This record gives sequence, structure tokens and C-alpha cells, in this order.
Amino acid sequence: MTKETSNTTKKSSSRPTKDTTRTAIAIMAAGKGTRLKSKHPKVLHEVGGKPLLAHVIAAAKQVIPAADIFAIIGHEAASVRHAVQDTGVQFVVQEPQRGTGHALMCASKALARYDQVIVLSGDAPLIIPETIRKLRDFHQSGSREHRPAAMTILSAQLEDPTGYGRIIHKGATSDDVQAIVEEKSCTPAQRKIREINSGFYAFSVKPLFANIERLKTDNSHGEYYLTDMAQVLCNAGKRVVATKTQDASEILGSNTRAELVELDARMRRDKCLKLMAAGVTIFYPESCVIDADVEVGADTVIEPFVQLLGRTHIGGDCRVRSYSVIQSSQIGDGVLIRPGCVLDDARVANGAILGPYSHLRPGSEIGEDAHVGNFVETKKIRLGKGSKANHLTYLGDAEIGEGVNIGAGTITCNYDGVHKHKTIIEDGVFVGSDSTLVAPVKLGKGSYVGAGSCITDDVSEESLAIGRAKQVVKEGWVKKKRESS
Ligand code: UD1
Ligand code: CA
Repeated sequence: MTKETSNTTKKSSSRPTKDTTRTAIAIMAAGKGTRLKSKHPKVLHEVGGKPLLAHVIAAAKQVIPAADIFAIIGHEAASVRHAVQDTGVQFVVQEPQRGTGHALMCASKALARYDQVIVLSGDAPLIIPETIRKLRDFHQSGSREHRPAAMTILSAQLEDPTGYGRIIHKGATSDDVQAIVEEKSCTPAQRKIREINSGFYAFSVKPLFANIERLKTDNSHGEYYLTDMAQVLCNAGKRVVATKTQDASEILGSNTRAELVELDARMRRDKCLKLMAAGVTIFYPESCVIDADVEVGADTVIEPFVQLLGRTHIGGDCRVRSYSVIQSSQIGDGVLIRPGCVLDDARVANGAILGPYSHLRPGSEIGEDAHVGNFVETKKIRLGKGSKANHLTYLGDAEIGEGVNIGAGTITCNYDGVHKHKTIIEDGVFVGSDSTLVAPVKLGKGSYVGAGSCITDDVSEESLAIGRAKQVVKEGWVKKKRESS
């Protein structure tokens, strides 16, 4: 709390001002998600490369601190908690899950010290902080200028309202709401109403919990519906209002696989548009899969059918050619990634060239201007500045210096069946094609390895190592064989 706010509290403790209103956010995330036909909890299904719930938490955290955000979990609570624990939000357990109204009943203790609570749905990931703020401010200002509202519903006007609860106003022109009717309980006339309940609300905490016990389960699911609070509060003489979102798509939920995929596509399209606005060229953006947290520098070109996932960062002036899948990797500036590369938790410095068909596994660090070529697999290695491994090679658990040339078909034999061992290749080494380097082993600075060698002992600086059977040529052998048969 700032100094200013604590002063205000002292002066006018009887009537809280906007600054002293204690606001919490409750995110309903306890449901099973029956309609997804999945054994995994609904809110952990991913869109834009992140669980649904993680998107909602991220938006909430931009409005109030994590300490005031409560995720209501229940179905598969342990895995949901585990998936979002690092966000720092609080958890409330709803067990068993008896509906959205029951979810809030379970949170009554946790929310008792707040003045108002904003309720969000853990399965509606497109919500933006701006809209949450607007809902909060609308509820608060309603309280000051008019008769205080006990409940403010965020509503939306949809072309196709199928599946959503409908908003029933007190009069044709009134903001005041009399009830929310779930689709299944709608009369044919109510079903035609296109103003729907987004599932996001602001409640004043006192009237909410003074009346929540009045909810009944006399509906098709036998559940406590939070939506029924509209009518319950009206009947108790409280005011219920609705405010419409500007952009109706923000509130879209994901009850079915088809809706999940649609949200995913929408999120990725938005991500591509954002990157393009920041100077990135993306050809055929609809064919690319780019996660929400990916960063790409200006003047980089992304070709069709590229996937950029997790916390991947790509610098400027790069080109990522088709069919590359890059996961949680850091790419410098001016890097060329030729078609078909797979990168996972790798780092690539400025000016490097990869591919086609390179596989960089976790812990691969590719130096400036280095080249990693066709069918080269790397794992936990450092490849120094300007070094090259261009063809058909496996490099694992290796420290490779600068200006090294790794010939085609070279293999670091890093695993003895029990332990992993390290290969050290110092600056300027030349490894001939088809060599096997049996770790632990060290190739000293500037040394040479003859093609086809099996190297089991260290090679000193500037030396030549040849580890292969001596060639034998039997003169005229073929001719003799032919004549004798
Ligand atoms: C709900 C609303 C509906 C609204 C729609 C908007 C109710 C009864 N209906 O319907 O009016 O138009 O959202 O998307 O609220 N959950 C719990 N505990 C439970 C049940 C659900 O935490 O016991 C959670 C779910 O995990 C989910 C959220 O509440 O994140 C909404 O539940 P869901 O079953 O998806 O409600 P809808 O049928 O979409
Ligand atoms: Ca829903």
C-alpha cells in the first residue's frame, strides 16, 4: 500500500474511496470439462501454447497483485496447482464440484476481507487486462453515482449466442438486469436474445455472501449456478447491472475441442499480426504456429510452416526457412535456419547457419558464424566461433573451440552404457571424415585426425592422429581369383 492510500484510510475510514476498495479476483477453474471428452482438466488444455488458465492468470496479474488472485481448483486439483504455481496466485479448493455458484461458496472465507471480487472463468483465455479493469471501474463507479450495484455482469452481443446464458433486462432500455437464463432453461423467445453472459462478473462481497446460500440446484444439471445470483440479488432488493464488451470475441469460452482449436487459431493469428506490426515478415501466417511468449526481431523473415514455441527469442535479420520447429531457444541476429531444423532449448549466436535438417537438442550452444549442416545432431555442446560441422554428425557432451572443422560422419562416443563422458576439441582442430572420438578424450590445439580414425587417446597440440587399420593392397588379386575358379 502506498503512503497516500494509508493516509486516506485514516482520514475517512467510514466511506471507502476508490483507492481503498479492496479488490480480489477469483478465477473459476475447478470444473471437469466433460464436453472436451478428455481425462485432463479443461483449464490445462492449451491454446497459443499455454494452458487456458495461464492466460487468464496472466491477464489478472496485470490488474492486481498475485496475492489477491484466487484460483478455484477442484477436478485434478494437484496437477492444476502444479501447472500454474509459479504465477504466485492463491488457491481455493472446491471439492466436490457442484457448479459455478458452489465454486464461489467455497471461496467465501478467502474473499471475506475484500470489498469486491471480480470473477473470471478459467476457460475463457482471450480476456484482456483492459476489460477486467473496465469491469472493476464500472462496478465501482456504479456504486458511487447511482444506487450501488451488488453485481455487475460483463455481457456481450453475439451473432450466434448458442450455448451461453442470456441476459434478461428489467426493461428494454434499462441497464438493470433481472435474471440470467441458461440456454437449457430458455423459453423460445429468450433463446432469441443475443446479449449473453460472458461468465465474468464483479460482485460486492457483502451482498454476495449474505445471499449466496439462497442458490438452489433445481436445474437440469442439479448444480448451484452462479448465474442465478442475478435473480437472487434482485429478489433481495439489490441492484444487478450489465455492461457490454466492445469486442465480443474476448469472452469466447472453450467448452468443446472445436472451440479450443478456434481460440488457438485466433490467438496465433493475433500473434502473427503483432509480430508483423513490429517489423517481422511472416509468409502465409496461417500456416505458422507461434506461441504467445515468442519474441522476434525486426527484419527477420519467417517462411511458411514454421513453429516457434515456448520462450523462443529470435533476433533481427534472421531467416527461418520452412518446416523448422524451434522450441524455447535463443537465436542471435542474422542467423540463417535452413529448412527442416529442430531446435530445443538451444542457443545460436549471430551469423550462424543451420540446416537443412539439423537437430539441436538441449544445451547446444552454437557460436558466432558457426555452421551446423545436414543431418547433424548436437546435445550439450559448445561449438566455437566459425567452427563447422556440416554433414551427418553426432556431437554430444563436447567442448569445441574456434575455427574447428568436423568432417562428415564424425561421431562423439559420449556414452559407455552407464556414464556420459566429455570430448574436448581445442581451437583450429581438423577432424577427418568418419572419425569416432571415444570420450573422455581431448584433441589438442591445431591437431589433425586422419579420416576414418577411432580415437581413444588424447592427441597433443599440432599432432596428427591416425587410428585405423593399415591399408593392404594385394596386386592382381582379382585376376588370380578369376583364373583359379
Ligand atoms: C457459464 C455460465 C453461462 C455463460 C458461460 C460463459 C453458469 C451456470 N453458466 O456456462 O451463463 O454464458 O459460462 O462462458 O455459470 N467451474 C468450477 N466449478 C464448478 C463448475 C465449473 O470452478 O463446479 C468452472 C469451470 O472450470 C469453468 C467455469 O467455471 O472454468 C465455467 O464453467 P462451465 O461449465 O464452462 O460453464 P458454461 O457452461 O460455459
Ligand atoms: Ca465455459
